[in-house]
Amino acid sequence: MNALHFPNNFQIQTTAYCNAKCSFCPYPVTSKEQAMGNMDEEVFRRIVDEISEHPVAMVQPFLMADPLMDKRIVPRLAYLRERLPHVRLNITTNGYLLTPQTTAGLVALDLETIHISSNGIHPATYRRTMGIDGLSVLRNVNQLHDALRQAGARTQVIVTSILLRETREEIFAARDYWKSRGITFYMNPLNDRAGNIAGADFEDMLPFDQDFNRAQLLQYDMSGCPALYFYMGILFNGDVVTCCHDWRRSLVLGNVREKSLFDIWHDAPYRRLRQLSDAGRLCERDLCAKCGTNRFSIDRGALQDYLHRHATENEVPEVNLAKMFQHITETDHESLKLGLVH
Ligand SMILES: C[S@@+](CC[C@H](N)C(=O)[O-])C[C@H]1O[C@@H](n2cnc3c(N)ncnc32)[C@H](O)[C@@H]1O
Ligand code: SF4
Repeated sequence: MNALHFPNNFQIQTTAYCNAKCSFCPYPVTSKEQAMGNMDEEVFRRIVDEISEHPVAMVQPFLMADPLMDKRIVPRLAYLRERLPHVRLNITTNGYLLTPQTTAGLVALDLETIHISSNGIHPATYRRTMGIDGLSVLRNVNQLHDALRQAGARTQVIVTSILLRETREEIFAARDYWKSRGITFYMNPLNDRAGNIAGADFEDMLPFDQDFNRAQLLQYDMSGCPALYFYMGILFNGDVVTCCHDWRRSLVLGNVREKSLFDIWHDAPYRRLRQLSDAGRLCERDLCAKCGTNRFSIDRGALQDYLHRHATENEVPEVNLAKMFQHITETDHESLKLGLVH
């Protein structure tokens, strides 16, 4: 398979920091093991300027961190928009740091999409899954969505939630809530981030009973990988990695302080990796082999069957939305202002 002349899809880690501590994410562990920092402005601009010389489809200024932890994220997105007027721009965030000022800045940028990763609707669940205050996120996302509508911006807000043991009781309530706000909602399957989440922790997080969980775990043959032919991920310090699963930076393909993106893309380390992939031997790399395992699927038919078979009072993950919001508003009067009561 031929690699593109230049990657058409980039993730740029303008900051390595995240404000959350998600139970299902490698960040809380890997951030303690590794060098952390923010990307220099000079490096960021050099990257964007080189990208602007090529026909690139998508740029996401985050990688294994939260983009809103970068104090300069709005001006950096503005620079991306100025230099790459036709590229698709997306940020994915936990939404906690969507202050009124950041929200106003994002609205003015007319991004294509803003993804909000949201795991739970009840504050106690949110605290357990992500370690942040869920009601603040709900307020922030509603304010962002309202501000975008008022401005007539094309930016689509999309809320995603991972189906976990912790969220399964509320996930349909979350879907109904976001739908009632006019916001798109997706449920995502859990995976073990190419082995970067410890096996026992991963199994504990799976949503259903052991047999059903096992039946839903998929294994992909990662003898080759398409990401090597079109995608590039750049860490805060300029190191280039294969993908968003390389949390422990197992292979650095070059550094943008030393070489151009183009040269790194065509240099020996990338070429060797693609040769391995072309030969169907990519599984010889530990990260790539593990990337193909432990991917929980959400097979809708199987999920529905399971729910019907286990339709006892305690186990059906259908939640009485009105009752839940009543509880939330009783315990936190601020939520009344969020339109949680219909
Ligand atoms: C690593 S985060 C980085 C961006 C930002 N901090 C956020 O959470 O949206 C990117 C996405 O990966 C998802 N994610 C993290 N760990 C995951 C896992 N084990 N399985 C599936 N998705 C996961 C998050 O929910 C988020 O939507
Ligand atoms: S999923 Fe996102 S918000 Fe949660 S710890 Fe990981 S990087 Fe941070």
